[in-house]
Amino acid sequence: MNKISCILADITTVEADAIVNAANSSLLGGGGVDGAIHRAAGPELLYACRLLNGCPAGQARITGGFKLPARYVIHTVGPVWRGGNNREEETLASCYTESLSLAVKNGCRSIAFPNISTGVYGFPKDKAARIAIQTVKQFLQTSPVPLTVTFVCFENVNFDLYNSMLPD
Ligand code: APR
Repeated sequence: MNKISCILADITTVEADAIVNAANSSLLGGGGVDGAIHRAAGPELLYACRLLNGCPAGQARITGGFKLPARYVIHTVGPVWRGGNNREEETLASCYTESLSLAVKNGCRSIAFPNISTGVYGFPKDKAARIAIQTVKQFLQTSPVPLTVTFVCFENVNFDLYNSMLPD
């Protein structure tokens, strides 16, 4: 049975099989949720990321979770919002699809997403929420295994948006 929900929390505390990191293409850490995940996972996460040689926008890579409660971290690189005429929406959707595919390939049954690209990368929060929910719903329709997907909001504005768009 698939399940989609949203919570207001710090994603580094979430005990899912995999948590998703909103990284940059270097995969060498940064601010925002990227910084929080690296701080909580410890230095081994950076060592593991160094071996990945980066990640293009829209794609995803997987590492261990190290000191995190989550078994895996799936690093995905969202689009920087440049007005909407640079395939930003498709790239954001791809982050969700690629992360879900990688989670299934690695035997995950639960995955937690931050609100990718809606911080430093400036993606409009309402558009991003709609793309995230639509893309996850679409994936779950053909997923080979049942998945529990949690959207982890860090700000009330996103939490309110997701609650208004998710079915009760
Ligand atoms: N748990 C959950 N969500 C968080 C946390 C946290 N601990 N910290 C921040 N967030 C939220 C932000 O509030 C925002 O809603 O994650 C969302 C994504 O914001 P950013 O982390 O700024 O990510 P993004 O907009 O995708 O920009 C990526 O920022 O940190 C750098 O290295 C990163 O260059 C990359 C860029």
